[in-house]
Amino acid sequence: MPSAAVSYLQKGGMRHQATDGPHFQPNGFFSDILPRESGFDNMTEPSGQIDHVLNESRSFPPPAEFTEKAVISSMEQYEEIYRRAVEDRDGFWGEEARQHLHWFEPFQEVCQWEAPNAKWFVGGKTNASYNCLDRHIEAGRGDKVAILWEGEPGETRSITYQELRTEVSKCAAALQDLGVGVGDVVSIYMPMTPELAITMLACARIGAVHSVIFAGFSAESIADRNQDAGAKLMVTADGLYRRGKVLALKETVDEALAKSPTVEKCLVLKRVGQDNVPMQEGRDVWWHDCVDSQSGDLPAVPLDSEASLFILYTSGSTGKPKGIRHTTAGYNLWAKRTFEWVFDHRDDDVYWCTADCGWITGHSYIVYGPLTAGATCLMYEGAPNFPAENRFWELVEKYKVTILYTAPTAIRAFIKWGDEHVDKHDLSSLRLLGSVGEGINPEAWMWYHRKIGQERCPIVDTWWQTETGGIMMSPLPGITATKPGSCTRPLPGIVPAIVNESGKSVDANQGGMLCIAQPWPGMLRGIWGDEERFVDQYWSKVPGMYLTGDNARQDEDDYYWIMGRIDDVINVSGHRLSTIEVESALVSHELVCEAAVVGRPDDLKGQAISAFVTVTGEASEELRKELKMHVRSQIGALAQPDDIRFTASLPKTRSGKIMRRLLRDIASGQEVVGDTSTLEDYSVLAKLRTDD
Ligand code: WT7
Repeated sequence: MPSAAVSYLQKGGMRHQATDGPHFQPNGFFSDILPRESGFDNMTEPSGQIDHVLNESRSFPPPAEFTEKAVISSMEQYEEIYRRAVEDRDGFWGEEARQHLHWFEPFQEVCQWEAPNAKWFVGGKTNASYNCLDRHIEAGRGDKVAILWEGEPGETRSITYQELRTEVSKCAAALQDLGVGVGDVVSIYMPMTPELAITMLACARIGAVHSVIFAGFSAESIADRNQDAGAKLMVTADGLYRRGKVLALKETVDEALAKSPTVEKCLVLKRVGQDNVPMQEGRDVWWHDCVDSQSGDLPAVPLDSEASLFILYTSGSTGKPKGIRHTTAGYNLWAKRTFEWVFDHRDDDVYWCTADCGWITGHSYIVYGPLTAGATCLMYEGAPNFPAENRFWELVEKYKVTILYTAPTAIRAFIKWGDEHVDKHDLSSLRLLGSVGEGINPEAWMWYHRKIGQERCPIVDTWWQTETGGIMMSPLPGITATKPGSCTRPLPGIVPAIVNESGKSVDANQGGMLCIAQPWPGMLRGIWGDEERFVDQYWSKVPGMYLTGDNARQDEDDYYWIMGRIDDVINVSGHRLSTIEVESALVSHELVCEAAVVGRPDDLKGQAISAFVTVTGEASEELRKELKMHVRSQIGALAQPDDIRFTASLPKTRSGKIMRRLLRDIASGQEVVGDTSTLEDYSVLAKLRTDD
């Protein structure tokens, strides 16, 4: 048994009492949840350990009434499952797979593992669309609502499992008519309509490999991805609604298709009813002409466990985006079980994940996880502040949402927009809250807990990545005492290791590189068409372990704290500081909305700390001094920023992650280098350059 798992099991327990914390008022632009800004292509060598500076000691035990009914309801139960998954990996996952997935043909072997190559459920045949749809219908649950959908303009749809299977079958048959077969890549560039999920499941039904491209990316980015994947078909729409405006998607796609020689056909959904949509004869076909007339009874194709289910592109800080490859059975099982464990899914839940299907969060926790579990999912098409800043809370009230899963960048936006938008609505249906995408600043966590959760709902801060396929570390809401800012502990089967640059495990509270020491069913199987980069990026630095690219520390209760990407670490006079802790100290000041902290070269100290902050009210010299003192008093002189720049907004990825890499260049007075294609708003960059 690996030592990381042993030490994990030996400790544990919940020692803290809930106490109150300070207030806070951050801000942010919302969008969804997306490829991180910085891969580890230009990773800097960690040269020492990371000083843990922030002393977060608040702790919130799960409410007793939650624990009573929870899917995992005691620490003993969890530890038993965890122990089994690690000690008897094949026995445990074999049982799980037989119970939770449908098998057209049984698998012969549970796991073949030789780092970095894993095969799960070898020799078996299953189908993810069958697991998401047919299984429920066969069990007599076809009339349960699978998707509740609301468009940005306000129209609504409610689709049962039975109806969803019909729609998926029709779309799958149309894809076959258009020449798509097993192993062909289909690029999907669509608004958040049910048809987006339907297209993903239709691909899965016939063994085509989907590559969803977030519908905010440029023609250039689409063409790159089409080219890299060798996509055969594209599915898109005439347009989408965003903050009341119509964006013409088809024109962008046409521009991309001019540079996508492998794409033969393009299927176009009429979403906004645009006039004069350019349709190229012989290439472009309307959804309503080609899908609607199909009979809707196409059976799912039995597929090999290791058949590619999808590719999803995620960006590195340099170089072209990586097509992360996930396969059928292992991914499907991991998405389902993590969904059930972490979100404590019950039959009468109305679950809402606010991500876009363009990111892994949408793949795993809008489509594959919840649908395989037979959940009712709310899907919302548009912006959180259209027509007004209360839209999310209106939706929660209207659909009686019980589980809400969103991102820190959204939470910071809600805080900035003001409590009055929340106060208008009855949020008493909520019983569980989730967070994903970035570290959540403890004060944003407190607001989420008080204002949205009304101190009643546990918060699951879920740490994972596109590569991991599903959640890796998270509180289990019935049993884990949460600490604001910590993703707490690993899920069953996950054996994290925090190591220094020589690959040795570090002690409690010593930061280091976060690795995963054992294979898990949902792990990526490769980078599409680039085996060498796969090995290089994830498997070469620490032999035999998956390198996540994040830094983390484990505290005295064995809780994990993600400290940011490895290349975000700041080294001040030999002390390695994590960005999130300094940022969280800044954000705990009542006038600070958001903060981003980076290192810049300094002759004396090696690196100096530069902070970029957005504030409510006037930015002044006094405030600058006050903020420096504030950080000093919160975490010590070492972490006091050398300079603070006030700015109207921070550069973010389209999913709302702060792009510290760009700020690093600006802080050190350099030209911004590297890939900026994932930047959400270019004008932010220009303004930052001229702000000095
Ligand atoms: C990176 C992965 C996870 C799906 C959406 C993003 C950061 C993600 C957390 C969290 C601290 C987090 C990490 C990770 N991250 N969740 N709960 N706490 N950091 O997927 O685009 O592949 O990004 O996002 O740095 O490595 P992704």
